[in-house]
Amino acid sequence: MSENHAIVFGASGLIGWAMVDQLLAAYPAPGTFASVTAVANRPIDLAEAHWPEPAADRPGLRLVSGVDLRGDAGALADSLRQQVPNADKITHIFYFVFTSVGHDLEEEVAVNKKMLENVVDAVSSLTQNLKFVVFPGGTRGYGIYVPGGTFSAPLTEDMVNNLPADYAKTVAYPQFRKVLTDACKGKSWTWCEICPDAIIGFTPNGSQFSLALHWAQYLSLYAYNHGIGPRIQGGQNSDKKEAATVEVPFPGVSAGYESLCSPVAASTMARFAIYAGQNPERCGDGRLFNIADADAPTKMHDLWPRLAAWFGLVGTGPETRSETELLPSEYVERYQGVFGEHGLDKAAKGGVGAGRKQLDSVGSWLTFDRQLSLERLREAGFEERRDPIEGWLDAFEMFRKAGLIL
Ligand SMILES: NC(=O)c1ccc[n+]([C@@H]2O[C@H](COP(=O)([O-])OP(=O)(O)OC[C@H]3O[C@@H](n4cnc5c(N)ncnc54)[C@H](OP(=O)(O)O)[C@@H]3O)[C@@H](O)[C@H]2O)c1
Repeated sequence: MSENHAIVFGASGLIGWAMVDQLLAAYPAPGTFASVTAVANRPIDLAEAHWPEPAADRPGLRLVSGVDLRGDAGALADSLRQQVPNADKITHIFYFVFTSVGHDLEEEVAVNKKMLENVVDAVSSLTQNLKFVVFPGGTRGYGIYVPGGTFSAPLTEDMVNNLPADYAKTVAYPQFRKVLTDACKGKSWTWCEICPDAIIGFTPNGSQFSLALHWAQYLSLYAYNHGIGPRIQGGQNSDKKEAATVEVPFPGVSAGYESLCSPVAASTMARFAIYAGQNPERCGDGRLFNIADADAPTKMHDLWPRLAAWFGLVGTGPETRSETELLPSEYVERYQGVFGEHGLDKAAKGGVGAGRKQLDSVGSWLTFDRQLSLERLREAGFEERRDPIEGWLDAFEMFRKAGLIL
């Protein structure tokens, strides 16, 4: 048994939840980590977290919630010292925190930079055993927020160095790199950045930018309203239709439906984060790695019909929207009460937060190829591959289990 102690910041988030899940599942082998500390901002009820149950061959878990990282590093260090057993044995920081602050993107960068600085300063003051730090970047760092994109795909890691300066100052990742480069000078630890396109996964408490949850709640309510769904038996719908005849058009435009992309399951990201931490010589020194489930890109044309089919719907290509037609977030807002009527209080109150408007526009804004090259990932020896649809369907199963969809 190693003495590795992982601390996961943002444990309630899309990547953070999967990170704790994979650590507790003892990936890649029992004994890789002795203990895991999950740090969350909003409180999580452990009984409703859906992480693996404690077992002899799993690392021990300590959940510390109510930790807002926007304070100062000293107070954070005190709080962690009091609440984290063996804080002096922390070896790995998995940092998956991000917060939106409205329209001021430079302010957003500053707030997020400060939170990472606080974490690095606080944890460094608690342990002499730190070995590795991981944080996620994203295709935003390749300029996809510029209409039409910035670089020609496939996107390769060296491109981040050519990001136009005006745009770069609106993205936190270059600042994160600077914080970690400066902080690890002369220290025993090193770090890497993992760059995903859309991340597909589960969170028990909603999430700011979960496309899977956004579409799952939409499709769940859409199916219900059209007389389809697991809870429809004895339900109130009068216009019950035969399953698999109700069409649901892709929310977007043709170019969004056909553009190439590289989604990744949050569990794949988490596995690579663990792999990177175990292989600092291949993955450290501030290297950036693209990540995806499959080497070959996919497109919504391949995914949407399979996503809709899970809900008993026929997913079709985009249609010209009428002005009165609701976007997914508007649809969920209008019908969310249905969840409550079926006892799904969590779904009735929550789902996707700050990112819902942005996620509504995914199919009409991401109209260009943005697939990721995985050459560097494979050169580093990470060989896990899966069909990208699996991450979506696993997340849907978990949403249903957690009462976030019908
Ligand atoms: N979602 C995607 O598809 C995607 C794609 C590419 C890149 N990324 C990048 O991945 C990173 C993480 O995003 P995510 O999708 O995992 O987001 P997420 O699900 O919203 O998770 C963000 C986490 O940060 C925590 N957090 C926010 N403010 C905090 C604060 N003041 N103190 C402590 N914790 C705080 C949140 O906790 P609370 O909710 O409890 O506050 C949450 O656990 C971001 O850099 C994002 O740009 C995401």
